[in-house]
Amino acid sequence: MNLIAPSMLACDFGKLVSEIDLVNKSKADWFHIDVMDGVFVPNISFGSPIMKVLQNNAKKPLDVHLMIVEPEKYTKKFFDMGADTLTVHIEVCKHLHRTIQEIKSLGMKAGVAINPHTPVSALTSIISEVDLVCLMSVNPGFGGQSFIENTFSKLSRLKDLIKQTKSNALIEIDGGVTSKNAKKLTKLGADILVAGSYIFKSKNPSNTIDTLSTIVN
Ligand code: DX5
Ligand code: ZN
Repeated sequence: MNLIAPSMLACDFGKLVSEIDLVNKSKADWFHIDVMDGVFVPNISFGSPIMKVLQNNAKKPLDVHLMIVEPEKYTKKFFDMGADTLTVHIEVCKHLHRTIQEIKSLGMKAGVAINPHTPVSALTSIISEVDLVCLMSVNPGFGGQSFIENTFSKLSRLKDLIKQTKSNALIEIDGGVTSKNAKKLTKLGADILVAGSYIFKSKNPSNTIDTLSTIVN
């Protein structure tokens, strides 16, 4: 079973509750929630107020992607706001192992995200500890960017690393996902596809989710 996680960053915040409801009623599996601080990435998205609206209205797991410095300061806060999976970036975690342990001890799934320039080999000593690896297929900070083709070979290397280490980590691909690359990503071993613009900027987001879900399953 491969999962589709619509990125709420691309939805219409003027009607957030109905956008959440659309995802509730669709074939989507998770809500992907992009939190940006304007420091780690050159954009600020949203924080607690939006997260609480999601917590109160979403009926599917909340997959929170923290694009912020010092994410360890906020693990408990996001747990309290309903995060099921909490993903932090390898590039900003000085004590990644400790942060991953903390996320898990709070009762969440722990994810680690790597930027397009970060090699898969950087995950070698942490892969057995994490529940999810988020492979960034765009540079984090904005929705609507083009998929970076090098992600395919990184995905194959990551799949090999997971097999070699007998890790249970799921692979999530984040950025520029469309029906054009979804099949290939799944074939190469992706478990979760995040899609923002492709879903919410389409004429019928629910149908688009349906299409993606059919392609990957
Ligand atoms: C990028 C975010 C992504 C993004 C995906 O920084 O982490 O989740 O919103 O959006 P699309 O699918 O539009 O690339
Ligand atoms: Zn994301």
